[in-house]
Amino acid sequence: MPTFANRVSGFGTTIFTEINELAAQHNAVNLGQGRPDFDGPPEVIDALMRAAQEGARVNQYPPGAGSIHLRNAIALHAGRFYNLDVDPARGVLVTPGATEAVFASLLGLVDPGDEVIVIEPYFDSYVPGITMIGAVPVYVPLHPPNWTFDEQELRAAFSPKTRAIIVNSPQNPTGRVFTWDEQKRIADLCVEHDVVCISDEVYEHLVFDNARHIPMAAMPDMFERTVTVSSLGKTFSVTGWKIGWVYGAPELITGVGRAHQFVAFAANHPGQEAAVHALGLPGTYFEDFQAMYTAKRDLMMQALSLGGLKSAKPEGTYFVMADFSDVFDGDSVQFARYLTTDIGVACIPPGFFYCPEHAHLARTQARFAFCKSDDTLREAGERLAKLLR
Ligand SMILES: Cc1ncc(COP(=O)(O)O)c(C=O)c1O
Repeated sequence: MPTFANRVSGFGTTIFTEINELAAQHNAVNLGQGRPDFDGPPEVIDALMRAAQEGARVNQYPPGAGSIHLRNAIALHAGRFYNLDVDPARGVLVTPGATEAVFASLLGLVDPGDEVIVIEPYFDSYVPGITMIGAVPVYVPLHPPNWTFDEQELRAAFSPKTRAIIVNSPQNPTGRVFTWDEQKRIADLCVEHDVVCISDEVYEHLVFDNARHIPMAAMPDMFERTVTVSSLGKTFSVTGWKIGWVYGAPELITGVGRAHQFVAFAANHPGQEAAVHALGLPGTYFEDFQAMYTAKRDLMMQALSLGGLKSAKPEGTYFVMADFSDVFDGDSVQFARYLTTDIGVACIPPGFFYCPEHAHLARTQARFAFCKSDDTLREAGERLAKLLR
């Protein structure tokens, strides 16, 4: 009887599925998945409707690399916010979301047997992507409570077999935004070992207070060895549209494109036209977006402290990691189940974002997503307060 391939046999059902099901059964406030419970900007949604109504030009296949309008808009956005000089014709590729952009980058730039460095805790698609292409993940943990990497551990991860490193800042799930100095340490090692950087910057516009997002491609000597991944989902609260992209030096993007043409070929065309409108919104859109999320971040911090959970204030993203050891005896999976079933708030146990050897680092941590309405976050605070009773 046919069965599935060895490369997927270890994947199983994700913890997200289990927690979502538990949350639904127990009517919990679901702060597990990073899925906004509010809508994107009306003018961006109108742009999608207009695009689809325009007819065959937009409702049939776009060029595989993406509509030239969107590739121009992505290059303009990189120039406008980061002063980067991106070639829209040869240095940009549009993908169905950042997830495919990372996977196509791995397929197009890394060979079987090569090593790929992953910073932990990591976004859950990275390691399956690495193993599916026959490459080997090498892990560098961020250490709680401040979620920084140890320079010696980072250096030790680089070897003659290292082909690439995946960097994600602003970082899911820790909420860290790497400083210029931290990124310089990564960049220096990439240059020293001639390594490609796959930089996942989907939270590029979600930074708070004094934190500043610096693309890895803008670090000295990094443009020619970096592919930058981003997407529409987070910045415009339309995660369901799955429009993403990757840009960088044409020599690298050509490799990514060769893989992408046989994985997805193209991303949905009306969404690409709407993305042109979104990326061109005035600066006030991006400022208001940050202000909205700063307020949500603060509501989340209040909710955590009502429950006696300790956490470093996130500098970016819509995630926070919180230490529950003052209010619960047990590990993070037991805590996530208890919180969902008995307290009525769902969170994610972050051990699944580590290799087994490093999972103990997150034994007393839980990840909460605050891309939720203010009322939902207040309700979460009232429920979390039960932890202290
Ligand atoms: C770090 C990171 N990268 C990529 C993605 C996926 O983005 P997309 O939905 O555009 O594939 C996410 C979504 O949660 C993420 O947190």
